[in-house]
Amino acid sequence: MRIEEANAGDVKELKELIGREFPYTGITEQKVWDKIDNPFFMILKMAGGKGEMTGFAEFQVMDAENGIARLNGITVRPAFRGKGYSKKLLTGAVKKIRENGYKKIILLVKVKNRTAKKLYKGLGFVKVGTLGKLIDKDKIEEWELIII
Ligand SMILES: CC(C)(COP(=O)(O)OP(=O)(O)OC[C@H]1O[C@@H](n2cnc3c(N)ncnc32)[C@H](O)[C@@H]1OP(=O)(O)O)[C@@H](O)C(=O)NCCC(=O)NCCS
Repeated sequence: MRIEEANAGDVKELKELIGREFPYTGITEQKVWDKIDNPFFMILKMAGGKGEMTGFAEFQVMDAENGIARLNGITVRPAFRGKGYSKKLLTGAVKKIRENGYKKIILLVKVKNRTAKKLYKGLGFVKVGTLGKLIDKDKIEEWELIII
């Protein structure tokens, strides 16, 4: 299982995956292109043996000066879930983020998303608060990982 930065050849697959898992983002192919071209975004894909994308994680620079990046989203294709792939993906992603000089990763997660919270907790993320805003009518928690 390889973890590498997504490129132009991944646009269609990313648009499909993001649209399915995060419909509230209103993703389009153009928006995926914009992210791939934008140095403040980093999309890391996990590729299986046949080169197919088994999942991805998207990061965004929030505060370059203070080394803060945000995990905007992570997903593993349904057929590959429950096998530890998201742990491998996020562990590899955190390593890359650290190598790029970042000190902290923040993320937002729906209160009800127990699987994602288990994943984050397992990697050392801690909950730092609950936001006032809702996504898909769900309450949102903020979590962070200090990586220095
Ligand atoms: C969240 C998600 C990425 C997890 O991917 P995954 O590869 O199936 O997860 P893993 O197999 O690596 O398991 C991660 C942890 O969750 C647990 N877990 C996995 N599936 C679970 C389930 N259905 N119910 C409860 N816990 C579950 C695992 O046991 C593991 O915890 P542990 O280390 O304490 O045992 C995947 O479910 C997904 O893509 N969900 C939809 C998108 C999403 O919600 N993303 C997160 C918000 S941005």
